[in-house]
Amino acid sequence: MLIWRATTVEVVEASIVGLDVDAIVNAANAPLAGGGGVDGAIHRAAGPELYAACQQFPEVEPGVRCPPGEVRVTSGFLLPQKYVLHTVGPIWFGGGQGEPETLACCYRACFAEAERLGLSSLAFPAISTGVYGYPLDAAALIAAHETRVFAERRTAPFRVVMSVLGAEFVEAEERALMIESRRV
Ligand code: APR
Repeated sequence: MLIWRATTVEVVEASIVGLDVDAIVNAANAPLAGGGGVDGAIHRAAGPELYAACQQFPEVEPGVRCPPGEVRVTSGFLLPQKYVLHTVGPIWFGGGQGEPETLACCYRACFAEAERLGLSSLAFPAISTGVYGYPLDAAALIAAHETRVFAERRTAPFRVVMSVLGAEFVEAEERALMIESRRV
């Protein structure tokens, strides 16, 4: 576990749906229509009311309820967490289409929502690193950097959990946090 000012950061190898945190982040798609991966796991655990709540968000353009880099908040319904922060990561097209900035925006938007909602803990999956194909190490560095930027500002205690599945993901997230620590 890392401690940056009043914020602790842990990498946990466990499904995000069972974590003891105030809110979890969903790696959703722009229509907020549910899907596979972590999105599927969250919708299954939350129950059908989550899908109905997602469909209440207006489309900002046809088929887009949440543009990449933004966030939409719902209740957790049957989940143990109070809220789900649905964010849409970038699809990896090689890195020249603004993917790093969009991914950074996802983390920033989620931290901003966490503060607005008065949360004291939040769990993230490795956004974009599954179906959306973002290279793991590069994505982990962005997650670590944005977490440290948040922690540098935050004065009240806060707990960030990086929820990952697989040893390769644990190692990548921990490596990225170590690299970011050396930059403090
Ligand atoms: N808990 C934590 N992490 C998980 C879980 C889970 N239960 N299930 C999957 N993951 C991990 C994957 O191993 C991957 O590293 O979440 C990471 C993100 O993978 P995806 O869920 O595929 O998300 P993403 O790459 O952002 O793609 C989003 O996939 O499921 C669809 O609707 C979703 O269209 C959207 C797209």
